[in-house]
Amino acid sequence: MRIDVLSIFPDYLRALDLSLPGRAQRSGLLDLRVHDLRTWTHDRHRTVDDTPYGGGAGMVMKPEPWGEAFDEIGLEGAVLLVPTPSGEVFRQSTARELAGEERLVIACGRYEGIDARVVEHAAAGGARVREVSIGDYVLNGGEVAALAVVEAVVRLLPGFMGNPSSLVEESHEDGLLEYPVYTKPPTWRGLDVPDVLRGGDHGAIERWRRERALERTARRRPDLLPVSQLAALGEYDVAT
Ligand code: ADE
Repeated sequence: MRIDVLSIFPDYLRALDLSLPGRAQRSGLLDLRVHDLRTWTHDRHRTVDDTPYGGGAGMVMKPEPWGEAFDEIGLEGAVLLVPTPSGEVFRQSTARELAGEERLVIACGRYEGIDARVVEHAAAGGARVREVSIGDYVLNGGEVAALAVVEAVVRLLPGFMGNPSSLVEESHEDGLLEYPVYTKPPTWRGLDVPDVLRGGDHGAIERWRRERALERTARRRPDLLPVSQLAALGEYDVAT
């Protein structure tokens, strides 16, 4: 997969050279190109922002550098991702969809956002645009969201994970939060690993995990459970 990231703070994206995304780059699975948006400015101050039409606080990113950047790197066959708090929620299902793409271009805005004509023009030119939010809070720019999106997508690329089965059981893959996990020692600071996990009864372990996953989800994220499933909780050994 090829991913182009455009930002006025390209150093922010350096973290992607570390750990698993770094390994994916070295193995050739990921071709990551980070660009400084100011490359496509022409004035002495390398200006990327201006005051908003209609008034109001803050600055808006000018369309021209974005347009020239997209002309040069090309959007053909790519999904253009624009992180913004006003986007659709970026979920595990979004990450799965994007992991099937050949090319992503991520446009990291700053200030009050990017002139709306940039997305409009890219979409009119045939680009598939997705404006995505990583949560109901406001960051200073799209860079941190881009890091989250790239990491969530790249770990799903075929051949990326050493043990793909660990992807199946994690939070959000089955619509539930993941059950609690334990490792050795069996007793630590007076706290025991639940007996069922040490008993070797795989059916019992599976039931226990499902119950804990349901319990957690009902407590922490009831919005993830359909009403029917919440109603059915009484049938499980689940304390809500
Ligand atoms: N930019 C600023 N806040 C954001 C958010 N919550 N998600 C994605 N991009 C953002």
